[in-house]
Amino acid sequence: MKIAIMGAMSEEVAPILEALGNYNTVEYAGNKYYEATYKGVDVVVAYSKIGKVFSTLTATTMIEHFGCDRLLFSGVAGAINPELKVGDLIIATKLAQHDLDITAFGHPHGYVPEGAVFVDADRSLIETGKKVATSLGKSVKEGVIATGDQFVADEERKNWIAATFNADALEMEGASVAVVCNALGVPFFILRAISDAADMDASFSFDAFLETSAIESAQFVMQMVDEIVGQ
Ligand code: ADE
Repeated sequence: MKIAIMGAMSEEVAPILEALGNYNTVEYAGNKYYEATYKGVDVVVAYSKIGKVFSTLTATTMIEHFGCDRLLFSGVAGAINPELKVGDLIIATKLAQHDLDITAFGHPHGYVPEGAVFVDADRSLIETGKKVATSLGKSVKEGVIATGDQFVADEERKNWIAATFNADALEMEGASVAVVCNALGVPFFILRAISDAADMDASFSFDAFLETSAIESAQFVMQMVDEIVGQ
């Protein structure tokens, strides 16, 4: 077993590296990858940089070059579902690309031929996530995550994404990581802690809560690793 633990920004993986303590840094394909052994299991940690292209590159590299056979993503998201407040956690059940648009050819938003609007996350890792949530006494929401190369700070865009994809939260990497893992047959788990409400105050809220929400998510993901290692 070799577990990939991925974020998009340095703030999202810093708490994970801190928890691991010792790691070896490898530079590859314009990025840094941190290799460690945690409780006898090999892990590779990296932050991709923001967006679908960089996250695709990093997820692919972690699987194809480093040989990871499952992937856990930790990071922050903008809330769509009003039940989600800053600091709350959401586990993705399925993910879609909200900015993928060839509707001019009669296709639905998020769809290209031979693809699918939604990619399902791994059911067994979601169950592990729920078990961890119960053991921590935390209420963690499960829901749809919409991904796009756009920081959403606009009610109208947010409402459109909500209506089109029935999404509960949005961010900029989950669906691309999902596409990679699905294509390569690697079980994946995407966890996000809310940093903002994707509204006109989103950039201020994001700056204020990125670090604390990233820690919330990272701590939960490390508990997931503990659970997986113990299984
Ligand atoms: N990640 C966290 N907040 C976000 C937002 N409002 N838009 C896109 N990605 C985000």
